[in-house]
Amino acid sequence: MIPRHVAIIMDGNGRWAKRRLLPRVAGHRAGVEAVRKVTRAAREQGVEALTLYAFSSENWRRPEEEIGDLMGLLKHFIGEHLDELAADGIRLSIIGDLSAFSPDIRALVEGAIARCAVNTGPQLAIALNYGSHDEILRAANRLAEEGGPIDKVRFEAALYTADLPPLDLVIRTSGEQRLSNFLLWQAAYAELIFVDTLWPDFDGGALADALAEFARRERRFGGR
Ligand code: FPP
Repeated sequence: MIPRHVAIIMDGNGRWAKRRLLPRVAGHRAGVEAVRKVTRAAREQGVEALTLYAFSSENWRRPEEEIGDLMGLLKHFIGEHLDELAADGIRLSIIGDLSAFSPDIRALVEGAIARCAVNTGPQLAIALNYGSHDEILRAANRLAEEGGPIDKVRFEAALYTADLPPLDLVIRTSGEQRLSNFLLWQAAYAELIFVDTLWPDFDGGALADALAEFARRERRFGGR
Protein backbone atom coordinates (compact mmCIF):
# COMPACT_ATOMS: atom_id res chain seq x y z
CA MET A 1 0.00 0.00 0.00
CA ILE A 2 1.21 3.46 -0.86
CA PRO A 3 0.64 6.02 1.90
CA ARG A 4 -1.74 8.77 0.78
CA HIS A 5 -0.19 11.42 3.02
CA VAL A 6 3.48 11.49 4.00
CA ALA A 7 4.97 14.13 6.29
CA ILE A 8 8.70 14.68 6.66
CA ILE A 9 10.71 16.30 9.44
CA MET A 10 13.67 17.48 7.38
CA ASP A 11 16.49 17.32 9.91
CA GLY A 12 20.27 17.35 9.63
CA ASN A 13 21.09 20.24 7.30
CA GLY A 14 23.47 21.75 9.86
CA ARG A 15 25.32 18.46 10.43
CA TRP A 16 25.55 17.86 6.68
CA ALA A 17 27.30 21.23 6.31
CA LYS A 18 29.50 20.73 9.38
CA ARG A 19 30.82 17.42 8.03
CA ARG A 20 31.92 19.29 4.93
CA LEU A 21 33.35 22.19 6.93
CA LEU A 22 30.78 24.45 5.26
CA PRO A 23 28.59 27.15 6.84
CA ARG A 24 25.12 26.04 8.01
CA VAL A 25 23.50 27.95 5.17
CA ALA A 26 25.17 25.58 2.70
CA GLY A 27 23.34 22.73 4.41
CA HIS A 28 20.02 24.54 4.15
CA ARG A 29 20.74 25.27 0.48
CA ALA A 30 21.37 21.58 -0.15
CA GLY A 31 18.20 20.92 1.84
CA VAL A 32 16.17 22.99 -0.59
CA GLU A 33 17.53 20.92 -3.47
CA ALA A 34 16.40 17.81 -1.58
CA VAL A 35 12.94 19.37 -1.20
CA ARG A 36 12.74 19.74 -4.96
CA LYS A 37 13.89 16.18 -5.64
CA VAL A 38 11.72 14.55 -3.01
CA THR A 39 8.61 16.51 -4.03
CA ARG A 40 9.02 15.23 -7.56
CA ALA A 41 9.77 11.68 -6.37
CA ALA A 42 6.70 11.65 -4.12
CA ARG A 43 4.53 12.60 -7.07
CA GLU A 44 6.13 9.93 -9.27
CA GLN A 45 5.73 7.31 -6.54
CA GLY A 46 2.02 8.01 -6.18
CA VAL A 47 1.90 9.90 -2.88
CA GLU A 48 -1.18 12.17 -2.84
CA ALA A 49 0.01 14.63 -0.22
CA LEU A 50 3.44 15.55 1.09
CA THR A 51 3.84 17.81 4.12
CA LEU A 52 7.31 19.20 4.83
CA TYR A 53 8.38 20.77 8.13
CA ALA A 54 10.36 23.77 6.90
CA PHE A 55 10.16 26.18 9.85
CA SER A 56 8.74 25.45 13.27
CA SER A 57 7.28 27.99 15.65
CA GLU A 58 10.34 27.24 17.81
CA ASN A 59 12.83 28.00 15.00
CA TRP A 60 12.52 31.74 15.76
CA ARG A 61 14.96 30.97 18.59
CA ARG A 62 17.76 30.44 16.07
CA PRO A 63 20.27 33.23 15.42
CA GLU A 64 18.87 36.09 13.35
CA GLU A 65 21.34 35.42 10.58
CA GLU A 66 20.19 31.82 10.17
CA ILE A 67 16.53 32.87 10.18
CA GLY A 68 17.37 35.40 7.46
CA ASP A 69 19.10 32.66 5.45
CA LEU A 70 16.07 30.37 5.75
CA MET A 71 13.71 33.16 4.64
CA GLY A 72 16.02 33.89 1.70
CA LEU A 73 15.96 30.23 0.73
CA LEU A 74 12.19 30.11 0.95
CA LYS A 75 12.00 33.06 -1.45
CA HIS A 76 14.57 31.40 -3.69
CA PHE A 77 12.63 28.12 -3.63
CA ILE A 78 9.40 29.80 -4.69
CA GLY A 79 11.17 32.00 -7.25
CA GLU A 80 13.05 29.10 -8.83
CA HIS A 81 10.64 26.22 -8.54
CA LEU A 82 7.14 27.65 -8.77
CA ASP A 83 7.05 27.07 -12.54
CA GLU A 84 8.02 23.44 -12.00
CA LEU A 85 5.44 22.93 -9.24
CA ALA A 86 2.73 24.54 -11.37
CA ALA A 87 3.72 22.48 -14.43
CA ASP A 88 3.66 19.29 -12.35
CA GLY A 89 0.08 20.08 -11.31
CA ILE A 90 1.02 20.39 -7.63
CA ARG A 91 -1.46 22.05 -5.26
CA LEU A 92 0.59 24.11 -2.85
CA SER A 93 -0.52 25.05 0.63
CA ILE A 94 0.98 26.32 3.85
CA ILE A 95 0.24 25.04 7.31
CA GLY A 96 1.17 27.36 10.14
CA ASP A 97 0.80 30.99 11.12
CA LEU A 98 1.98 33.13 8.22
CA SER A 99 1.11 36.37 10.03
CA ALA A 100 4.53 36.42 11.70
CA PHE A 101 6.35 36.69 8.37
CA SER A 102 7.35 39.87 6.58
CA PRO A 103 4.82 41.26 4.06
CA ASP A 104 7.04 40.39 1.09
CA ILE A 105 7.27 36.72 2.11
CA ARG A 106 3.54 36.58 2.77
CA ALA A 107 2.75 38.09 -0.62
CA LEU A 108 5.14 35.70 -2.36
CA VAL A 109 3.73 32.65 -0.60
CA GLU A 110 0.12 33.70 -1.13
CA GLY A 111 0.82 34.39 -4.82
CA ALA A 112 2.38 30.93 -5.19
CA ILE A 113 -0.61 29.27 -3.53
CA ALA A 114 -3.01 31.19 -5.79
CA ARG A 115 -1.05 30.18 -8.88
CA CYS A 116 -1.25 26.49 -7.94
CA ALA A 117 -4.88 26.66 -6.81
CA VAL A 118 -6.22 25.60 -10.21
CA ASN A 119 -4.11 22.44 -10.15
CA THR A 120 -5.63 19.04 -9.54
CA GLY A 121 -2.49 16.98 -8.84
CA PRO A 122 -0.77 15.98 -5.60
CA GLN A 123 -0.70 18.34 -2.63
CA LEU A 124 2.47 19.87 -1.23
CA ALA A 125 1.95 21.45 2.18
CA ILE A 126 4.87 23.39 3.62
CA ALA A 127 4.81 23.87 7.38
CA LEU A 128 5.96 27.41 8.16
CA ASN A 129 5.87 28.85 11.67
CA TYR A 130 4.01 25.67 12.50
CA GLY A 131 3.66 24.03 15.90
CA SER A 132 1.09 21.42 16.86
CA HIS A 133 0.30 22.97 20.23
CA ASP A 134 -0.38 26.32 18.55
CA GLU A 135 -2.52 24.63 15.91
CA ILE A 136 -4.60 22.74 18.48
CA LEU A 137 -5.06 25.79 20.72
CA ARG A 138 -6.02 27.93 17.74
CA ALA A 139 -8.64 25.38 16.68
CA ALA A 140 -9.94 25.04 20.26
CA ASN A 141 -10.27 28.81 20.66
CA ARG A 142 -12.01 29.20 17.33
CA LEU A 143 -14.51 26.46 18.14
CA ALA A 144 -15.07 27.84 21.65
CA GLU A 145 -15.93 31.21 20.12
CA GLU A 146 -18.34 29.56 17.67
CA GLY A 147 -19.95 27.55 20.48
CA GLY A 148 -21.84 24.27 20.19
CA PRO A 149 -20.68 20.68 20.68
CA ILE A 150 -17.25 19.77 19.33
CA ASP A 151 -16.75 16.38 17.73
CA LYS A 152 -13.80 14.92 15.82
CA VAL A 153 -15.07 16.02 12.41
CA ARG A 154 -15.55 19.61 13.53
CA PHE A 155 -12.24 19.67 15.36
CA GLU A 156 -10.28 18.32 12.39
CA ALA A 157 -11.95 20.85 10.10
CA ALA A 158 -10.54 23.61 12.30
CA LEU A 159 -6.94 22.35 12.01
CA TYR A 160 -4.52 23.66 9.39
CA THR A 161 -4.60 20.23 7.75
CA ALA A 162 -8.37 20.26 7.10
CA ASP A 163 -7.90 19.92 3.33
CA LEU A 164 -5.24 17.19 3.47
CA PRO A 165 -5.89 13.42 3.49
CA PRO A 166 -5.39 11.52 6.79
CA LEU A 167 -1.72 11.28 7.73
CA ASP A 168 -0.29 7.80 7.07
CA LEU A 169 3.44 8.17 7.51
CA VAL A 170 5.89 10.49 9.27
CA ILE A 171 9.54 10.28 8.28
CA ARG A 172 12.29 12.01 10.26
CA THR A 173 15.80 12.19 8.91
CA SER A 174 19.17 12.46 10.68
CA GLY A 175 18.66 9.84 13.39
CA GLU A 176 16.62 11.89 15.88
CA GLN A 177 13.59 10.00 17.14
CA ARG A 178 10.95 12.52 18.21
CA LEU A 179 8.04 14.43 16.72
CA SER A 180 9.11 17.92 17.84
CA ASN A 181 5.60 19.41 18.01
CA PHE A 182 4.79 18.30 14.45
CA LEU A 183 1.30 17.03 13.51
CA LEU A 184 0.66 15.55 16.96
CA TRP A 185 -3.11 15.22 16.48
CA GLN A 186 -2.77 13.97 12.91
CA ALA A 187 -0.06 11.40 13.72
CA ALA A 188 -2.29 9.47 16.16
CA TYR A 189 -2.22 6.35 13.94
CA ALA A 190 0.52 7.28 11.49
CA GLU A 191 3.49 4.98 11.01
CA LEU A 192 6.78 6.54 12.11
CA ILE A 193 10.02 5.94 10.24
CA PHE A 194 13.31 7.33 11.49
CA VAL A 195 16.28 7.21 9.14
CA ASP A 196 19.91 8.14 9.79
CA THR A 197 20.30 9.88 6.43
CA LEU A 198 20.80 13.63 6.76
CA TRP A 199 18.09 15.62 4.96
CA PRO A 200 20.29 16.93 2.09
CA ASP A 201 21.19 13.31 1.24
CA PHE A 202 17.57 12.12 1.28
CA ASP A 203 16.35 11.47 -2.27
CA GLY A 204 13.86 9.53 -4.37
CA GLY A 205 15.56 6.23 -3.54
CA ALA A 206 15.40 6.94 0.19
CA LEU A 207 11.73 7.82 -0.17
CA ALA A 208 11.10 4.57 -2.06
CA ASP A 209 12.83 2.65 0.78
CA ALA A 210 10.58 4.36 3.35
CA LEU A 211 7.47 3.58 1.31
CA ALA A 212 8.57 -0.08 1.07
CA GLU A 213 9.03 -0.17 4.88
CA PHE A 214 5.57 1.40 5.28
CA ALA A 215 4.08 -1.30 3.02
CA ARG A 216 5.56 -3.98 5.31
CA ARG A 217 3.95 -2.50 8.43
CA GLU A 218 0.65 -3.89 9.60
CA ARG A 219 -1.71 -1.08 10.55
CA ARG A 220 -4.47 -1.96 12.95
CA PHE A 221 -5.77 1.46 14.09
CA GLY A 222 -6.33 0.07 17.58
CA GLY A 223 -8.23 -3.00 16.36
CA ARG A 224 -7.33 -6.63 17.04
C1 FPP B 1 16.78 21.06 10.09
O1 FPP B 1 18.18 21.04 10.00
C2 FPP B 1 16.23 21.85 9.04
C3 FPP B 1 15.56 23.03 9.21
C4 FPP B 1 15.36 23.69 10.51
C5 FPP B 1 15.02 23.76 8.10
C6 FPP B 1 14.52 22.95 6.95
C7 FPP B 1 14.56 23.85 5.82
C8 FPP B 1 14.88 23.57 4.56
C9 FPP B 1 15.16 22.21 4.05
C10 FPP B 1 14.99 24.66 3.58
C11 FPP B 1 13.79 25.53 3.41
C12 FPP B 1 12.61 24.79 2.91
C13 FPP B 1 11.86 25.12 1.87
C14 FPP B 1 10.60 24.39 1.60
C15 FPP B 1 12.25 26.18 0.95
P1 FPP B 1 19.03 21.58 11.23
O2 FPP B 1 19.51 22.94 10.87
O3 FPP B 1 18.23 21.49 12.49
O4 FPP B 1 20.20 20.54 11.19
P2 FPP B 1 21.08 20.05 12.42
O5 FPP B 1 20.13 19.39 13.39
O6 FPP B 1 22.01 19.07 11.77
O7 FPP B 1 21.77 21.26 12.97
